[in-house]
Amino acid sequence: MEIKHVMVIGAGQMGSGIAQVCAQSGFHVKLNDISEEALQKGLAGIEKNLNRSVEKGRMSEEDKQNTLNRLQTTTSLQDASDCDLVIEAVIENMDIKTKVFKELDQITPEHAILASNTSSLPITEIAAVTNRPEKVIGMHFMNPVPVMKLVEIIRGLATSDETYKAIEDMTKALNKTPVEVNDFPGFVSNRVLMPMINEAIYTVYEGVATPEAVDEVMKLGMNHPMGPLTLADFIGLDTCLYIMEVLYEGFGDSKYRPCPLLRKYVKAGWLGRKTGRGFYVYD
Ligand code: CAA
Repeated sequence: MEIKHVMVIGAGQMGSGIAQVCAQSGFHVKLNDISEEALQKGLAGIEKNLNRSVEKGRMSEEDKQNTLNRLQTTTSLQDASDCDLVIEAVIENMDIKTKVFKELDQITPEHAILASNTSSLPITEIAAVTNRPEKVIGMHFMNPVPVMKLVEIIRGLATSDETYKAIEDMTKALNKTPVEVNDFPGFVSNRVLMPMINEAIYTVYEGVATPEAVDEVMKLGMNHPMGPLTLADFIGLDTCLYIMEVLYEGFGDSKYRPCPLLRKYVKAGWLGRKTGRGFYVYD
């Protein structure tokens, strides 16, 4: 099947990044959010990224304009009625996601694929609320979306080969690399990344080293582009805690217990970069 018209739901950091790369790659994109303010903020971020690409000589002014022309914003889910693919990137809450998927199942054409950018919620469970579980799939982009090459593609229990192939081709068309994984808690990316971040938090909690020292060890010793605590602040400590809870509950194994210090920071509202304070303080 051919994908031309895409809706991205959620104009936050992930959704706006996904909308940008889709529009840049020639797809017609509707960026949807319940808040007009969020749409304008998302669009401003996209324009800033595109302007930077023009300044750096990676994109012509004409390509930038064409990209923006392919991008519309809307607060109505009904506008998905002519879309071939919908990529959902709303907050990580099962009730909200299932409500969105139920509505999309009614609104979108029969052939449309419904994808979720969830970082850890079960695709199989999301698919089960629709009448087209074979057309539901996980399309997990990494932050910052315009820069990171990976899309982790998650097959739900009922996802068809045809749906997988269409999303694999779409990912390549976005100039990204697809990696196929099955639907288990945390998939691969967060099953491996989050316990590392959690363990880094334990080393601070137990007084083994300062956040700066832990990050320096992992950056200089393991060549990670960001230390795990800088990365945790970048992702958001609430998101890190949420994913650890999904792993802990999903596997019932004590090795996934979230560090008490992570819980404490989240309770304090120290959520990382977005609130100005996490393991580090931001201006
Ligand atoms: N949006 C768009 N472009 C961005 C960006 C953003 N938010 N942040 C950085 N960039 C671009 C910069 O503009 C810069 O481009 P130029 O080459 O044109 O200058 C380029 O990326 C490199 O940026 P910087 O020189 O400022 O800094 P850097 O070299 O340290 O790279 C980074 C920044 C790419 C974020 C790098 O630090 C990195 O790779 N960090 C790790 C990111 C990571 O692990 N992401 C996965 C998080 S986990 C996740 O997303 C999944 C989940 O479910 C939680």
